[in-house]
Amino acid sequence: MVLTHLSDGEEALILQVVRQLVAERVAPRAAAIDESGEFPWDIQKLFAENDLLGIPFPAEYGGLGASFLTYVKVVEEVAKACASSSLIIAVQELGALPIIIAGNHEQKQKYIPKLASGEWTAAYALTEAGSGSDAAGSMRTRAERKGDKYLLNGTKIWITQGGVADIICVFAVTDPTKGPSGISAFILEKTFPGFKVGKLEKKMGIRGSPTVELVFENCEVPAENLLGEEGTGFKTAMKVLDKSRPGIAAQALGIAQGALDFAAKYAQERIAFGKPIGQQQGIQFMLADMKVEVESSRLLLYEAARKCDESAPDLTLWAALCKLKAGDTAMRVTTDAVQVLGGFGYSTEYPVERMMRDAKITQIYEGTQQIQRLVIARTLVGKWKPPAG
Ligand code: CAA
Repeated sequence: MVLTHLSDGEEALILQVVRQLVAERVAPRAAAIDESGEFPWDIQKLFAENDLLGIPFPAEYGGLGASFLTYVKVVEEVAKACASSSLIIAVQELGALPIIIAGNHEQKQKYIPKLASGEWTAAYALTEAGSGSDAAGSMRTRAERKGDKYLLNGTKIWITQGGVADIICVFAVTDPTKGPSGISAFILEKTFPGFKVGKLEKKMGIRGSPTVELVFENCEVPAENLLGEEGTGFKTAMKVLDKSRPGIAAQALGIAQGALDFAAKYAQERIAFGKPIGQQQGIQFMLADMKVEVESSRLLLYEAARKCDESAPDLTLWAALCKLKAGDTAMRVTTDAVQVLGGFGYSTEYPVERMMRDAKITQIYEGTQQIQRLVIARTLVGKWKPPAG
């Protein structure tokens, strides 16, 4: 069952509005956002004003209550023009999902409406220097209960939008003897004592999306900001990724589609050997292969999004399938788009080199492509357990 209160017509209207906003307001800013490396607050405001920051959030907490399918289509549309801007929508979702999935009514009431309206921005803090792929086994950030507070100590890295977020869902170890079942999730407000934003990363791509280190030094988090029960944080983190990986697949698909559109247009205009290069078989075969990759990614993504809407039991598998396929497609298609444009493709005068740089991260974050393969393979052969004794 799809839990949406919007009709198909209303959802189509959202996409129509987004296409127009992207053409008029986002696409003309994309190169400058990349060049400046600064968070585009004007675009955040534009998305907030047009209700794009809480698309699949429940309507009772101020969201649009639209389907997940609509949400991924919106991310895709924005990413066709600007990957950094698409992350504003995707990370708002990522940061809000722990509360939507594991929060109680009071927590949802307090935080989700502010996130849906865009008054506040959100981030999700799982990764640490020694704990990227091995998210549970190597987590070191500790949370210890002291009276009516938890004291958090540790450092998170690679936190997308961490430096501009008003609230951050943080994962920390409450019981080091219990492995994944000793991890808990917390809602942290940026004003909580003992919290500070550390180093800003200098990155190859998605340069308009600040990626930072977060530092917790006896950081005081009220006990009421624990999400769910102690020890349920890792499962919450994984359930969130099941729903957010399709958002990254949508970003990857949008980047790929944007690059293909640009390359196909260029191929019709650029003349070599007396005819447009798009009429040369070498280029035609490249464009055809790019199209196959893009359309197969789209089919996997939309199916995964439907599974999000239905909370299907095999969602974990489909989230991994679509993220793996779309991330690899983005990298291949953008690389080939640069090739179609030749020397011009390598120049910052044209958008495809930016798209190629932006594409790379979709093979890395929200679980590397190798982690997606591990998740997929485990649905086929199970997780290996060492023999007892
Ligand atoms: N839903 C619910 N529960 C889940 C789950 C899921 N999808 N996946 C695992 N679990 C449960 C397991 O059932 C298990 O529970 P039990 O002990 O009760 O059986 C528990 O969680 C531990 O699971 P595993 O044994 O599978 O754990 P693992 O240590 O083998 O690791 C992993 C699994 C898939 C490798 C996981 O660590 C992982 O996904 N790693 C990648 C982390 C990642 O994606 N990081 C991205 C950071 S966010 C980001 O990048 C955002 C951004 O910048 C925009």
